[in-house]
Amino acid sequence: MTASAVRSMLPPLSPAEQRHSRALATRIREQLLAAGGWLSFERFMELALYAPGLGYYSAGSAKLGSGGDFVTAPEVSDLFGRCLARQCAQVLAVTNGEILELGAGTGRMAATVLTELAVQELLPQRYAILEVSADLADRQRRRLARLPRELRERVVWLEGLPEPALRGVILANEVADALPCRRFTCHDGVVSELGVALASAPTGEEIRFRNAERAAQGDLAGACAAMLAPLPVLPEGYTSEVCLRLAPWIASLGDVLERGALLLTDYGLPRRHYYHPQRERGTLRCHFKQRAHEDPYVNLGVQDITAWVDFSRVAEAASAAGLTVSGFATQAAFLLALGIEGLVGAAADGAQRTRLAGEALRLLLPEEMGESFKAMALTRDLDTPLAGFAVQDLRQLL
Ligand SMILES: C[S@@+](CC[C@H](N)C(=O)[O-])C[C@H]1O[C@@H](n2cnc3c(N)ncnc32)[C@H](O)[C@@H]1O
Repeated sequence: MTASAVRSMLPPLSPAEQRHSRALATRIREQLLAAGGWLSFERFMELALYAPGLGYYSAGSAKLGSGGDFVTAPEVSDLFGRCLARQCAQVLAVTNGEILELGAGTGRMAATVLTELAVQELLPQRYAILEVSADLADRQRRRLARLPRELRERVVWLEGLPEPALRGVILANEVADALPCRRFTCHDGVVSELGVALASAPTGEEIRFRNAERAAQGDLAGACAAMLAPLPVLPEGYTSEVCLRLAPWIASLGDVLERGALLLTDYGLPRRHYYHPQRERGTLRCHFKQRAHEDPYVNLGVQDITAWVDFSRVAEAASAAGLTVSGFATQAAFLLALGIEGLVGAAADGAQRTRLAGEALRLLLPEEMGESFKAMALTRDLDTPLAGFAVQDLRQLL
């Protein structure tokens, strides 16, 4: 689909959004020209999402929630955060520690987790949030200020990973998919890197970008050779993504986890399904006002760009960081094991039960979020089997 065809199926940009998008396109063009006319997709995505003052997560659009561009599990229902809190409770009971949430979005999940842990009388000593978006951190502060004092006083915002290392739980819902990724494409069995160059634009005013291939080199070539060799041959023109930032990210989190669990929840697949020959256009998706599409070069700075998570890569990174892969399950299996049905059944009245049942179906059904979203537990020095992973098969990660 051409850029103009994609634009025609999306809601039009407001004049303010157009100005914002153009300012970011100008910034990216400057960087691209300074780099000799070609940028890796990873650098493009980093600028599109995080360029200071202009990137999607650095600037002020609504982003999450029904009035924003996309809805995450904690925004669908508090049932998600309540189940997650039960998993946290199990780890906190053993570690007597704290919670660190990465990328806390609107703050709703933090509010739900703390409220549920108060009910279970297992509040963490502190609930720390590490958020790269100043705009979302502001939103989190406003949301969490509404919590009862005993809960809100436990919440702190960090500028970087905590020192000294922590005991307890690290939570990251839909953060790994927001890490900038590289793209590649295959021709005659040879892998090329898919980067970004300037495209000719119909008017001198407009700045457009396009895919631009070059021979895969260095770490990308090495990563593709290692991960694709055991898999079936990929068809001509096959295009996909690989997130080379996952391993250093997991290693940095492993460094700060002295004892406890890192719980990742995100959409993604084990590698053999991620790089299945039929998934020939990859997993890169953009979200703008509740519509999903595949063109990262439109609506710059006002749309989200994500790629699914290769959970086998996460597991390899965890092992290299000395963490144990203690759990991997679909979101549906994870939430059912943590008692989501009981939470719906315990609703105060029929009307609430009907509402919660509808929300639970969205979280659980395979055609909604139940199958494509996964939960993974990476642990250190924790022997207890984790309740959320009662039904799982770690062999699928191989
Ligand atoms: C898709 S949103 C998910 C928000 C929230 N966790 C939820 O589920 O509603 C991605 C979040 O990750 C944050 N983020 C991206 N990269 C990050 C990083 N390296 N460390 C911490 N937060 C990050 C973004 O600012 C944003 O809050």
